[in-house]
Amino acid sequence: MLALNLTHTKLKGSLKDYQDRINRITDLIATKKGPGGDFLGWDQWPKQFDKEEFSLIQKTAKYIRDNFQVLVVCGIGGSYLGARAVIDAIQGLMPNKDKSLEVIYLGQTFSPTYTQQVLNYLATKTFAINVISKSGTTTETSIAFRLLKDLLEKKVGVTEARKAIFATTDKEKGALRALVKQEGYVSFNLPDDIGGRYSVLTAVGLLPIAASGIDIVALMAGAKEAMVLYSNSQIEANPAIQYAIARHQLYQDKAVEMFVTYEPQFAMIAEWLKQLFAESEGKENKGLLPGSVSFSTDLHSVGQFIQDGSPILFETVLYVKKPTYDLTVPLSVNDADGLNYLAGRPLSFVNEKAYLGTLQAHVEEGQVPVILITLDQMDAHHLGHLLYFFMKTVAYSGYLLGINPFNQPGVEIYKRNMFKLLGKKGY
Ligand code: PA5
Repeated sequence: MLALNLTHTKLKGSLKDYQDRINRITDLIATKKGPGGDFLGWDQWPKQFDKEEFSLIQKTAKYIRDNFQVLVVCGIGGSYLGARAVIDAIQGLMPNKDKSLEVIYLGQTFSPTYTQQVLNYLATKTFAINVISKSGTTTETSIAFRLLKDLLEKKVGVTEARKAIFATTDKEKGALRALVKQEGYVSFNLPDDIGGRYSVLTAVGLLPIAASGIDIVALMAGAKEAMVLYSNSQIEANPAIQYAIARHQLYQDKAVEMFVTYEPQFAMIAEWLKQLFAESEGKENKGLLPGSVSFSTDLHSVGQFIQDGSPILFETVLYVKKPTYDLTVPLSVNDADGLNYLAGRPLSFVNEKAYLGTLQAHVEEGQVPVILITLDQMDAHHLGHLLYFFMKTVAYSGYLLGINPFNQPGVEIYKRNMFKLLGKKGY
């Protein structure tokens, strides 16, 4: 399933010394009495999720797959990253002819070029929209949705467009909920006590993930398995807590946690992780800056810095043991490229040796501490487990840091300035 290995971290202190603090944090999480305790709904969610809504998600996903070529997910931050991370990790990055539905993304940028290109692409497709916003007022998402809705209504008419728009938002509040009531869209709720970056296992992530053809029952089963496993407050029995403590110790003399993957389709998992850790911990002048690289690709670029540059970082490597597909290096009659020493070897074998060689280079010569997380495979069950593992870690890690891991006060400041510059009333 998931294994954590801290032997390459050279931690100075013992994990066991944290047991009293961990007991107090476990209690804060259970009683919801810590900072941001009102936003701990994700903790028991794999058991407590709304089963009725889950069935509606499955039904709606089938309807979308049966009736449209494309689903546009319109959201930003926690309102799109989790879905995209899981879809990319499982479906891969190549256009897949077997897929009956393509999922694309808008609402995460103001880029006029990207926006126009998405609209151009959609002009010749049948498409549905899943607009996702907890607040219902996020400007990137609102503008994109207005444009998408206009295009759809022009293409199929107002009545048909209403049957192709699905909204995920707060159950009572916000402009999007008001629009849902006005237009009669099928809608899903984002629970009050689950913040954006912890919402991937709610309708926020589940509807697009299910629409893409991924088994959300398996995803939730994996998350539930993790929930049970990581509810144990004993450090030696709980890898999520061990990882939180290791990060906390490494933070004493490192500034950056570099997430490393060896699968290009994990790039959005790394983006989801960057949001989860940066937005949860980067406050009060504290926190590790999360970065990400995809190896071996980035061994030919950023790898130089990791090996030899300023000693400001440690790595957290996410390695998948069994790839979804594998293939062997072919034999060449004249061996002009000198690769016959690898003929017949699976590409997974080469990837693994690149991983082991890099690990040794970074740890031994580079003196870079490395946390290893290995995942058996990249299916829905394992992904559900992995997502929950990281959310549990950040709760412990944030409380060890002495901050509220569930708010994001810093993100409001750019909005205030932008609204002022845009001439919004009240700014
Ligand atoms: O984690 C968070 O809370 C944020 O990243 C939000 O998900 C993001 O800002 C989008 O907000 P909303 O869902 O309200 O549009």
